[in-house]
Amino acid sequence: MTKLLITGGAGFIGANFVHYTLKNHPEYQITVIDKLTYAGNIDNLKSVMNKIKFIQGDICDRELIDKLVSQNDIIVHFAAESHNDNSLRDPWPFIQSNLIGTATILEAIRKYGKRLHHISTDEVYGDLELDDLAKFTETTPYNASSPYSSTKAGSDLLVKAWVRSFSINATLSNCSNNYGPYQHIEKFIPRQITNILSGLTPKLYGTGEQVRDWIHVDDHNSAVHSILDKGKSGELYLIGANGEQNNKYIVETILELMGRDKNAYEHVNDRPGHDQRYAIDSTKLRIQLGWEPNFTNLREGLKATIDWYTNNEDWWKNEKAKIEAAYAKQGQ
Ligand code: NAD
Ligand code: TYD
Repeated sequence: MTKLLITGGAGFIGANFVHYTLKNHPEYQITVIDKLTYAGNIDNLKSVMNKIKFIQGDICDRELIDKLVSQNDIIVHFAAESHNDNSLRDPWPFIQSNLIGTATILEAIRKYGKRLHHISTDEVYGDLELDDLAKFTETTPYNASSPYSSTKAGSDLLVKAWVRSFSINATLSNCSNNYGPYQHIEKFIPRQITNILSGLTPKLYGTGEQVRDWIHVDDHNSAVHSILDKGKSGELYLIGANGEQNNKYIVETILELMGRDKNAYEHVNDRPGHDQRYAIDSTKLRIQLGWEPNFTNLREGLKATIDWYTNNEDWWKNEKAKIEAAYAKQGQ
């Protein structure tokens, strides 16, 4: 058995990764470390607690990370502060967890000679013009816009520097916007679904013309496994599934799939510094590692996601009023 340490495994993508790995890769023995911030939820792992080891802790805790890294073979690093809007309200937790946390992991990886896979985002590249057909590739220069994306860019550069200077065994992946079960309701798609389920109006920032390249979380996670199995140390892989759509289309489709008037949304204050368009060219991952996404129909993926939030109201309803109050303060 290979011992796998998953940081941030109680968050959205990390929890889905735990479930995906248990189902599809029985060769791994899983330990999760998660601080259980507002975004981490132990209930996301409730059904598998007897199959994994769970440790509540902070990736900035050097002693704890030292011990956990020394006890495992591979570390998949998801833990981060992940929401752009929060990073505009208060950047400090982002600087702490995304930069100091990643540096803490890197130092332990260096000390014990273990393998790292670092999870990152396409937002490190900044944005593309709406009327441009270009996509991000592995050679696009870093040009991050927000405190969130700049701290993720910084964490990537730390990993790259540790590869170059200390020859650590590490791979990186930069994925586009994920959707699926267990996503925190502060994020775009679950916020709109739970607004409708709560009798509130969906909220579109600014014009709603901004484009995101949506990928189902299981496709992100299958790509991470392809990299764990076949990726080359020191390499970075972009993960995307050709899911480009503007925000207006997503809101209208959610409304329609939920049996509402597709125009029953409102425009609210735009996000300062709002990135216009993200788009991923994942040719390298597809050609070199033979990866392909399974969820290529975004409409069907949205329908399944709507069903999940509809059937799991207990999972989100206690948080809803607090999240909406924070947005309302910003006119969003
Ligand atoms: P999330 O906010 O849902 O989960 C983050 C998890 O990390 C939470 O469980 C939280 O408790 C934990 N955490 C935060 N700080 C910690 C710390 N200091 N110590 C230990 N645990 C800590 O985020 P997510 O959407 O699941 O994103 C996971 C990773 O994937 C992040 O690195 C993010 O940058 C990256 N990513 C996200 C997306 C997306 O669309 N959500 C896309 C590409 C990349
Ligand atoms: P988000 O889920 O925050 O992801 P990211 O900022 O990482 O792309 O937002 C996705 C897009 O949706 C982004 O263009 C901002 C927009 N948005 C809204 O229009 N309304 C909302 O209520 C939220 C949360 C986001």
